[in-house]
Amino acid sequence: MLSLTTPRLLLRPWQDADREPFARMNTDPRVMEFMPAPLTREESDALVGRIQAHFEKHGFGLWAAELRADGAFAGYIGLAVPAFEARFTPCVEIGWRLAAEYWGRGLATEGARAVLRHAFEVVGLDEVVSMTVPANLASRRVMEKLGMTHDPADDFDHPGLPQGHPLRRHVLYRLPGETRKGLS
Ligand SMILES: CC(C)(COP(=O)(O)OP(=O)(O)OC[C@H]1O[C@@H](n2cnc3c(N)ncnc32)[C@H](O)[C@@H]1OP(=O)(O)O)[C@@H](O)C(=O)NCCC(=O)NCCS
Repeated sequence: MLSLTTPRLLLRPWQDADREPFARMNTDPRVMEFMPAPLTREESDALVGRIQAHFEKHGFGLWAAELRADGAFAGYIGLAVPAFEARFTPCVEIGWRLAAEYWGRGLATEGARAVLRHAFEVVGLDEVVSMTVPANLASRRVMEKLGMTHDPADDFDHPGLPQGHPLRRHVLYRLPGETRKGLS
């Protein structure tokens, strides 16, 4: 299956050995600050299974991010077709989750640029979106660095969370294929 390479990252298919470090980061309160709850080992493994099934169905997905310098598993960066319905679906979103020890080095942005290039040039998408809660400023900053734009008219309540849930409100960022300002 396809891999993408950047100066510091190998975005590649998942391996069994990724499951343990992935489960560890999914219990880290820093990593899970803007998720509904930390994941148990079972939930984390089930997520890996869903990511692999997504690759089989669509040919793209949330790639495992490996540091080329030492082969360490750092998290995921990639594309996902949201399973829920909203005003802006069907769509393809770009997303990222890295272990906290790898934050603040530009890795998410570097990997995401390669993912966007793949999304537009190989998959042939017309648009890629990204979404998060308003308070997730690091993720929003990555979106902005990629040239994605936020129209408050696109803000929405995530249908996967119950009414009144503090993480229900989401912001949507869009990057139409013809702009791609962040890719140069
Ligand atoms: C979001 C995440 C992937 C970013 O990874 P990263 O490799 O540190 O990202 P980058 O270094 O490429 O860019 C982060 C940017 O956010 C900025 N940033 C980080 N924390 C911030 C904060 N609390 N407030 C404002 N900006 C912040 C950084 O300064 C950087 O911007 P800069 O390059 O202009 O200085 C990482 O924080 C993460 O895995 N978080 C937990 C999972 C998550 O929330 N995923 C997204 C769900 S939608």
